[in-house]
Amino acid sequence: MARPMITHRSKEYKKLHEGIVEKTRKALGTDMDVFMVSGSATVMIEGAVRNGIAGRSLGITGGSFGDRSIEVAQLNGKNVDKVEVPMGKGIRPEHIEGRVKKDIEAVHWVSNESSTGVFSDSTAIADEVRRQSSDALVVVDAVTSAFAMDLEVEKMGPDALIFGTQKALALPPGLGIMLCSEKMLKKAATVSNRGFYTDLLKIKKQSDDNYALTTPPVSLMYGLDFQLDKALAEGMPARYRRHQEMADLVRAWSGKLNGMFPDKGVQSNTIGVLNRGALDFDKFHASLKSRGYEISNGYGGVKEKTFRIGHMGDLTTDRVKRLLSAMDEILEEMK
Ligand SMILES: Cc1ncc(COP(=O)(O)O)c(C=O)c1O
Repeated sequence: MARPMITHRSKEYKKLHEGIVEKTRKALGTDMDVFMVSGSATVMIEGAVRNGIAGRSLGITGGSFGDRSIEVAQLNGKNVDKVEVPMGKGIRPEHIEGRVKKDIEAVHWVSNESSTGVFSDSTAIADEVRRQSSDALVVVDAVTSAFAMDLEVEKMGPDALIFGTQKALALPPGLGIMLCSEKMLKKAATVSNRGFYTDLLKIKKQSDDNYALTTPPVSLMYGLDFQLDKALAEGMPARYRRHQEMADLVRAWSGKLNGMFPDKGVQSNTIGVLNRGALDFDKFHASLKSRGYEISNGYGGVKEKTFRIGHMGDLTTDRVKRLLSAMDEILEEMK
């Protein structure tokens, strides 16, 4: 990433762009378009709603980031029907039974809700959407699951699957990435006010030529190319397994306090959300930080009753074990 800058209208850039697209497709097992826009993942969530919804959508939420995508759609002038799933529960097909009505143009939800640590089966939800309406688009926020948990992209068949660089790809933030279907592009052609920056048809035209629509973060793309090589060398099944093992360690440890917040069976492999109980989290965390570790506060509706441990990207089971033993020491000290 410290390499000198190159112009993004050069052959060298085109090669970098093309390589990233191919490697992303290979890693995620898809031949969908891979679009990249300078910004954070939210720019692509905005892109999906601006291109895929003319009037009305169905938003499913079980926490802060599900709420966020509904807000993004509403602030772009869309009417959003809302399905609220209790926090800590997985989103299931029956939650949307009878809700994908004829005028619902897209259904959107979060694959891995980062506020509650819930991972839902997006393939089952997408199947249910299509069972009710073959026209409705499937828009999935995969910000904290892509490259860490197997999303079965081919089987799920999303029309937009969105993530960024700063989570399981273990890079700095700065690039919003979308896997985009032909169905989404066809729909986009019928929708007005797609904007400029988020116009998927404009992005597609440039992307087909291995260019970005506007100036891309070239340095970050060098990093992304490197991380994709690393993911492919590790092998995606091994990568998913490593995330599962890290999560299992945290789940086992959570028994020393008040267990995990989400229901069994829907607990995320990237973010462990633990019940705080009577733990003085601020004191606990200050002590952890003084030893060189950092975990995280709760978020959104469960901010005060939980705390979160991120275990994704380049982290290893050894490092998670070291973190957990430091946590053991601190609990002992705080007794
Ligand atoms: C599930 C989820 N969706 C969306 C976002 C927003 O992503 P960004 O900040 O990259 O726009 C986040 C950020 O943490 C997230 O965890």
